[in-house]
Amino acid sequence: MKIPISKPYLGTQEQQAVVEVLASGWVVQGPRVAEFERRFAAYTGAPFAVATTSCTTALHLALVASGIGPGDEVIVPAFTWVATANVVESLGAEPVFVDIELETFNLEVSQIEAAIGPCTKALLPVSLFGHSAPMDAVMAIAARHHLKVVEDDACALGAWYGERHAGTLADIGCFSFHPRKAITTGEGGMLITGDEKTAVLARSLRDHGASTSDLARHLGARSYILPEFKVVGFNYRMTDLQGAVGVVQMERLGRILEHRTRLARRYDEALAGLGWLQPPRQEPGCRHGYQSYVCLFQPEQPGLDNLARLHARRNALMDDLEARGIATRPGTHAVHMLDYYHQKYRIKPEDCPNAYLADHLTITLPLYTQMTPAEQDYVIAALRQWSG
Ligand SMILES: Cc1ncc(COP(=O)(O)O)c(C=O)c1O
Repeated sequence: MKIPISKPYLGTQEQQAVVEVLASGWVVQGPRVAEFERRFAAYTGAPFAVATTSCTTALHLALVASGIGPGDEVIVPAFTWVATANVVESLGAEPVFVDIELETFNLEVSQIEAAIGPCTKALLPVSLFGHSAPMDAVMAIAARHHLKVVEDDACALGAWYGERHAGTLADIGCFSFHPRKAITTGEGGMLITGDEKTAVLARSLRDHGASTSDLARHLGARSYILPEFKVVGFNYRMTDLQGAVGVVQMERLGRILEHRTRLARRYDEALAGLGWLQPPRQEPGCRHGYQSYVCLFQPEQPGLDNLARLHARRNALMDDLEARGIATRPGTHAVHMLDYYHQKYRIKPEDCPNAYLADHLTITLPLYTQMTPAEQDYVIAALRQWSG
């Protein structure tokens, strides 16, 4: 049996939607993107949604719209995808890494304030793998220190914090539609916000800084009059081909999330007795979206002293599963230890020890919407047989 780590859930409706866009003659950002934005805003409860080409470009817009620039510092968790820190770095600002807690793999709240200094302008919490960051605490700290909050919600569609969807407590939330996410448009992203001015600015920035969109100009009178350009922007426009896929994917979202949750519960029950594998935790009051089902390999209490040995054993497990046709991946990486950041900022593993442990000891199990019980049982049986 071959079990991939993930599979996009796409069908004939998405194919039909793309064909219709091709036939319409309007393939750039237009009515389908606008409809996708409407549905995304309605689902998340965000007043405004702005589609982009990826979560990375949505984060870039969010930081530009928040006024982040050279000399500023932005606080980011050390365990996340490199894009979270890269967007800060690309603006000439400095990402200041804060450690995570090992239960949800999200920012360790007690460490945030010690990292805040006179140059800190924003907090950039990540709702990793589909579990919301601890947003009440994050927002309280931000209010005390007058900081903006941009939430990296790349993985967080379907993640709820109490009654609020991920991204709606922060000033801005940014989502990804890469194929490993719950829904996909190939590549793609979405910025959500409750602030109209931020939304208007983000719409302009994604379109070179134009004062009106192509579509609005095309549909209005005197369409030959070019827009004004009062800010420096980029081309981060999603195409209508992607927007059309996004609209259909939003229709499927409820069932997709239901199914992913069912699979996660099945894993939870089956793995509870293993003892050496900590399944992902769902904090009280939170609903996990299960973009990824990430476990911590811990046959004994992990620490920096026994990490090399445990890491080798985790890799032996991943090799064993691969030999059985089961794909696994680490959760993500400790960004403070990637060459660029480690060398530039002279950071040591022990500066963010939990991120370093998670980097070496996490294991993502296969989980995708169309996963069958037989496929999941095969993974569970392989884990139960492992004796390394
Ligand atoms: C936490 C996090 N942030 C940002 C990104 C970047 O998303 P995108 O590939 O849509 O740019 C990812 C992608 O997986 C991610 O996991």
